[in-house]
Amino acid sequence: MIIAVDGPTASGKGTIAQALGRHFGLPVLDTGLLYRAVGFQTQQRGGDPDRAADALAACDFPDTLLENPALRHESSGGLASRVSIHPEVRSALLQRQRDFANQPGGAVLDGRDIGTVIAPHADAKLFVTATAEERARRRHGEMVERGISLGYEEVLADIRARDARDMGRADAPLIRAEDAMLLDTSRMDRAAAIAAAIAFVEGKLATPG
Ligand code: C5P
Repeated sequence: MIIAVDGPTASGKGTIAQALGRHFGLPVLDTGLLYRAVGFQTQQRGGDPDRAADALAACDFPDTLLENPALRHESSGGLASRVSIHPEVRSALLQRQRDFANQPGGAVLDGRDIGTVIAPHADAKLFVTATAEERARRRHGEMVERGISLGYEEVLADIRARDARDMGRADAPLIRAEDAMLLDTSRMDRAAAIAAAIAFVEGKLATPG
């Protein structure tokens, strides 16, 4: 079974993908991490993330880079969003994601274009979202916990900028697949969102097609 989980930044899609993987015993790929690795490596090498050639050259990052905690920083998310605009970068990362999706037994992938481009044949597709204000509130709360001092307004502005880039790009923009279940977590806590996602996938298993 292949499960596609897409949605904007800080919507809770990563948490939901991990929970689905645990529940159904499937491996999980956080595809955002691949774009983060490209953005990070582009910058490390002194390249310009807005130049396709520089970003493409960084697509040969070693697997060990995916373990680097620096990829989780906000700055890496911003760089990822910039390099992910280039069609050359998207196609360089395509096969790796498709191979993961099509492995025997199936997989869960979370990202922006899993249900539309990477695995349009997925058995279950979820589009996880929440208002920009709610996502900023959550992200800001996490940062405060981690001792990072950034104001709520700055976090909100960053989320809006990333949404605009992810939804506005020409190649594989962030968009809900027609057959994806819309899961708006604005008024849900983590447990309720996970329960709703599991119930949806179980429903799909009971009535495939
Ligand atoms: O999900 P995450 O915040 O880690 O993703 C970082 C950035 O990578 C996103 O803002 C998006 O621009 C890009 N991305 C993408 N396609 C994916 C996953 C992430 O374009 N499948």
